[in-house]
Amino acid sequence: MTDNIKWHSGRVTYQDRCKLLGQKGLVVWFTGLSGSGKSTIAVDVERGLFEQGRAVYRLDGDNVRHGLNAGLGFSKDDRDENIRRVAEVAVLFKDAGLITLVSFISPLRAQRALAREKAGEGFIEIYVKADVETCAKRDPRGLYEKARSGEISDFTGVSAPYEEPDHPELIINTAVMSLEDCVAAVLKFIL
Ligand SMILES: Nc1ncnc2c1ncn2[C@@H]1O[C@H](COP(=O)(O)OP(=O)(O)O)[C@@H](O)[C@H]1O
Ligand SMILES: [Mg+2]
Repeated sequence: MTDNIKWHSGRVTYQDRCKLLGQKGLVVWFTGLSGSGKSTIAVDVERGLFEQGRAVYRLDGDNVRHGLNAGLGFSKDDRDENIRRVAEVAVLFKDAGLITLVSFISPLRAQRALAREKAGEGFIEIYVKADVETCAKRDPRGLYEKARSGEISDFTGVSAPYEEPDHPELIINTAVMSLEDCVAAVLKFIL
């Protein structure tokens, strides 16, 4: 079927877009357990970059599951597809010249490797690090309690695996650093 589908090139290049925006496109990929702080940090980083005149957009796991990825669950296959789709979208946004912040648990190394491969240059993996106990104590949405009681299954860190990144560009330890320091460290790295 794809035999009949051909790439149709445009007349505005990535370089044209970068020149217009005065920046390069980036994919900033936050990975970590539920409750580690991905969304909270990404929100403040987005605001910080915006205030510095950067074109920035945030793709949040929970938000994307409301729309583009509604209908996907938390099985291994669905999680893979969840990440595959958001990686594709992130690459499009990066190609549009945006600093694209992606905050998804993205628990498996292979999933993040796929995103990195698709993005090519300008991919920054940030490990938002906090141990399960710290995340469970925060439990901002009461999910750990539900996971531990068995009300929800396939929950990362409880009943589904999380593979720590081997070589992330940055590690942010939210169990010991304040939110302000975490945000400042990310902004410093990006800028
Ligand atoms: N240093 C920190 N960085 C980010 N969040 C923190 C930090 N310290 C405490 N928190 C709290 O941890 C919780 C993280 O929740 P959230 O950002 O929704 O996590 P995630 O998106 O990774 O599931 C929030 O309630 C936040 O206020
Ligand atoms: Mg989140």
